Amino acid sequence: MRVLITDSYDQMGLEAAKIVAGQIYLKPNSVLGLATGSTPLSMYERLVAVHRTVGLDFSEVTTFNLDEYIGMGPDNPQSYHYFMQKHFFKHINIKPENVHIPNGMAQDVIAEGERYEQLIAAKGGIDLQVLGIGQNAHIGFNEPDVKFAATTHKVELDEETILANSRFFNNVDEVPRYAISMGIKTIMMAERVILLANGRNKARAVYKAVCGDVTPEAPASILQLHRDVVVILDKEAAELLPANVVSI
Ligand code: F6R
Repeated sequence: MRVLITDSYDQMGLEAAKIVAGQIYLKPNSVLGLATGSTPLSMYERLVAVHRTVGLDFSEVTTFNLDEYIGMGPDNPQSYHYFMQKHFFKHINIKPENVHIPNGMAQDVIAEGERYEQLIAAKGGIDLQVLGIGQNAHIGFNEPDVKFAATTHKVELDEETILANSRFFNNVDEVPRYAISMGIKTIMMAERVILLANGRNKARAVYKAVCGDVTPEAPASILQLHRDVVVILDKEAAELLPANVVSI
């Protein structure tokens, strides 16, 4: 695990965008795993800028998003389908058929999880997975006490996650209770992973991910066992890390 501490949220996004852009330059038909939420917004902005200014080409790129709320269709402004279109896909030249997000409206969620896994495998697996982290150290929607062996599956959101995500809704009661999420195994099978975090409210979770015991109680801690992870932080999110953490 390598840790990169940047000066600001924007700088965090820039460093993440450099890694994603580098991946696409080296392998134009890369398979990217993508996250939603506030954290990766500055990375998406930078990638859109690189696409516009120097023509970073997404025409052969395939993407798989981590998760979607159950019961939300793509036209729902709170859905992760909608989020991705709004903040990223509609601004770049990715082919719609190369964009994949779990179907939150699937009747059979188990079958949907299997379909998603098969699709990832058929594309040759994920080359680079982008992750945010929850205040409870979740990755994707893999909440504490997760099964490390899980693949894409239905999850019940933690109260802490529901509360944290209520900032995107009118009130907490509108936040869905369930989601479909890539599992820890799906994430761990990616060739490379970048984990982004900003803000003091993520400092504890970052500490657990980087320095804590590897335990299902802190799902992100499993990343310590992955061979190629870069953790990109702003100063606030790095606040609790000891000085001897290997940084680049
Ligand atoms: C989003 C996702 C979540 C978020 C995490 C942090 O697709 O899988 O794990 O990355 O909840 O969310 P923000 O960035 O909004 O703080």
